[in-house]
Amino acid sequence: MSAPDLYPASDAFRQNARVGSREAYDEMYRRSVEDNEGFWAEQADRLDWIEPFDTVKDVSFDADDLHIRWYVGGKLNACYNALDRHVEEGRGDRVAFYFEPDDPKKEERRQITYAEALAETQRMASVLKDLGVQKGDRVTIYMPMIPEAVYAMQACARIGAIFSVIFGGFSPEAIAGRIRDAASDFVITADQGRRGGKTIALKANVDAALKRLGEDSEVRHVLVVRNTGGNVTWDDRDVWYHEATRSASGACPCEPMDAEDPLFILYTSGSTGTPKGVVHTTAGYCVYTSLTHEITFDWREDDVFWCSADVGWITGHSYIAFGPMINGATQVLFEGVPTFPDAGRVWDVVEQYGVTLFYTAPTLIRALMAQGDDFVTRHDRSSLRVLGTVGEPINPEAWRWYHEVVGEGRCPIVDTWWQTETGGHMLTPLPGAIDQKPGAATVPFFGIQPQVLDAEGKVLEGEAEGLLVIADSWPGQARTVYENHERFKNTYFTAYPGTYFTGDGCRRDADGYYWITGRVDDVINVSGHRMGTAEVESALVLHDAVAEAAVVGVPHPIKGQTIYAYVTLAADATPNEDLRAELRQHVRKVIGPIATPEFLQFAIAGLPKTRSGKIMRRILRKVATGEHDSIGDTSTLADPEVVDKLITGRR
Ligand code: WT7
Repeated sequence: MSAPDLYPASDAFRQNARVGSREAYDEMYRRSVEDNEGFWAEQADRLDWIEPFDTVKDVSFDADDLHIRWYVGGKLNACYNALDRHVEEGRGDRVAFYFEPDDPKKEERRQITYAEALAETQRMASVLKDLGVQKGDRVTIYMPMIPEAVYAMQACARIGAIFSVIFGGFSPEAIAGRIRDAASDFVITADQGRRGGKTIALKANVDAALKRLGEDSEVRHVLVVRNTGGNVTWDDRDVWYHEATRSASGACPCEPMDAEDPLFILYTSGSTGTPKGVVHTTAGYCVYTSLTHEITFDWREDDVFWCSADVGWITGHSYIAFGPMINGATQVLFEGVPTFPDAGRVWDVVEQYGVTLFYTAPTLIRALMAQGDDFVTRHDRSSLRVLGTVGEPINPEAWRWYHEVVGEGRCPIVDTWWQTETGGHMLTPLPGAIDQKPGAATVPFFGIQPQVLDAEGKVLEGEAEGLLVIADSWPGQARTVYENHERFKNTYFTAYPGTYFTGDGCRRDADGYYWITGRVDDVINVSGHRMGTAEVESALVLHDAVAEAAVVGVPHPIKGQTIYAYVTLAADATPNEDLRAELRQHVRKVIGPIATPEFLQFAIAGLPKTRSGKIMRRILRKVATGEHDSIGDTSTLADPEVVDKLITGRR
């Protein structure tokens, strides 16, 4: 018998769910769209405001007059909403974080209450103030997954500084680019991080980045949290956090912020150029992340929520540092890697803390699935209620394994489609209301109006496949690209006027469910992380041996996609295994491990180009995936013979 393709929300789950039937969802969705402003005005009550807003929504997607504003005129503070109010309202003893260290044999497990998290955040905020950080200053955060990473984000929010978190896996070069783009005045880092028993030289990477920037750097201080106690080199601008706290005040008031004041910048890869500094603002982001966290996961006060993402990605911003904290949730914060010391670690942590809501990426599910069921079944998972995935389409086999083996057939799976730019979930089943189909992100969240367009921009109705756009704004939407509104406009609002263009393709089935088919631009999704082909190409051509490079994504059983690079060499370079290894290592150094080309082919006879010199990636993709029979028309190439030579040299 074949596996079912429809998994109804279970009766047991429905009975107590926040949204407990398809009819209830339909009714709420209809209202959220028909009375959009009324709906979002009500949702603003989730937050504590210093001053009420006077206009719910002031939006135009028209490229000539592009602006996105929500809750205009309101004043509030994000950190107050995530911490102070829980303590003031008597919830200070509630656990904010169960901190699970990389290696519990060597480091201590810790339980941190909301009252403690508030005290630590205030301490960090006072230190930042003492160092001269002011409202509107940009603070770069480059931290391991320790509680101080969250305190740093919250402390910035508290004093109105705009934070820019850089994932701890990024290289000095990548850090330098982001510090320069944001014109950061301050950096917060740690001596070292720990991952899977290894140490990561965070402070040394910051040093290297600042050295690279030289005169270009406006960084006045680097605040360093002592984490491993490992050796670091020291400079006048560096300040130990534990020393600075001695003279710092334990109290630090919350800065009243305008609803539309920037909260953070987060860099993400696009199809062209350097990563974009996506800007999220205060009120709309807080409303949207807290509502989606509550509804998508059917979150309750007694839940233990664990989002396995790093705070360096949007998932860690929205579903660790903000949404759940604004709701007063108890979370697991995990420093380590899910396969250390073995493939059972995740389920060990679930058992340890009685995790009820677990949120992760398909790439991890596939990696664990490959290690066999024993690692899962030897741990008690009876606490689990809802399982979530994010980052890339999940293949039905992995979905079923997650459902049957991990969730014992009991837990609904929420396949949440969204993006760095959307701030929070956009398409997702609600666990008690929407019957699930393995691989489908299913239906829009409240207030979200997806459309499927053909290549000419015509709106397709009913069953259809095409480009995914969103027809109207929602509060969690990014407002601009930092100091580059033109780029924001051109990337998202120009090709299909009047809508937000997602860059994804999708299919809508006969039941109105949405299935994401993947990026339609030159962006590769490696293990749920976006990588721009242009970025990897620029890194490759920085190397003296490389004349030209072209990069494509190819399917990978665990990572979803992986990077396949073609390079043509400079005249004096010799194509051999040493150079291949060196070039892969070079990209790793320039961008970071996630950008390392898995395959690197020397295109001895050159790349396939049209007569006007445009590289034909379509052909490169076909060669890379071995689909030599369906390469199609090569007659427009300047030299059609290169194709056969590429096929011969395939990796
Ligand atoms: C891209 C956004 C949102 C946090 C993690 C990634 C892909 C994301 C899904 C999903 C199919 C998905 C899309 C999207 N994506 N979630 N559930 N099903 N595809 O954030 O780095 O901004 O990447 O990830 O292609 O455009 P991001």
